[in-house]
Amino acid sequence: MKKLAIFASGTGSNARRIIEYFSGSGMVEVALVLSNKKDAGVLEIARSHGIPAMVFDRKMFYETGEVLDALRVHHIDFIVLAGFLWLAPPPLIAAFPQRMVNIHPALLPKYGGKGMYGMHVHEAVKAAGETETGITIHYVNEHYDKGDFVFQMRCAVLPEDTPADIARKVQQLEHQYFPEIIAKLVSENAA
Ligand code: GRF
Repeated sequence: MKKLAIFASGTGSNARRIIEYFSGSGMVEVALVLSNKKDAGVLEIARSHGIPAMVFDRKMFYETGEVLDALRVHHIDFIVLAGFLWLAPPPLIAAFPQRMVNIHPALLPKYGGKGMYGMHVHEAVKAAGETETGITIHYVNEHYDKGDFVFQMRCAVLPEDTPADIARKVQQLEHQYFPEIIAKLVSENAA
């Protein structure tokens, strides 16, 4: 059984899908949920599934190594970032080479980088008059949204779509594909 950790600081809808997808799977156990927000929705989701959760601050992430320690204590094999915005520190990247992925709500390399998250992404897609957008699942490296791509899926942007409409379409893709791509990666890559 491979052990997965999820970092999430938004509403946690992707984290919920991932937790539900693997619940009782016998293949992957979501063994730790981590957030830098003490009121993140994902913490309640973790609690209701009996999954250990950890809230951390910048110091614990970047200086003391407490986050990395917790990942080791829980024997984590693979990390998923699902709505987590802090840049991963080098020791974390080194400890999980090709074993840490992020999901981005656009077709990278477009609409990525610092500050490109949430509705900012969909507003930029709309403002540029794009006719399509989508999701990108990629490995995490030391730059925002720059790791090797693992998977992309597209959806149409219609002229009448608002940024909120685009967000809904993209979220549907995320919920549909992220858990199964994680399952594939974990079976191929986890140590
Ligand atoms: C998703 O759109 C994901 O692409 C991005 O952050 C958002 C998280 O949404 N990285 P949720 O908290 O899972 O609902």
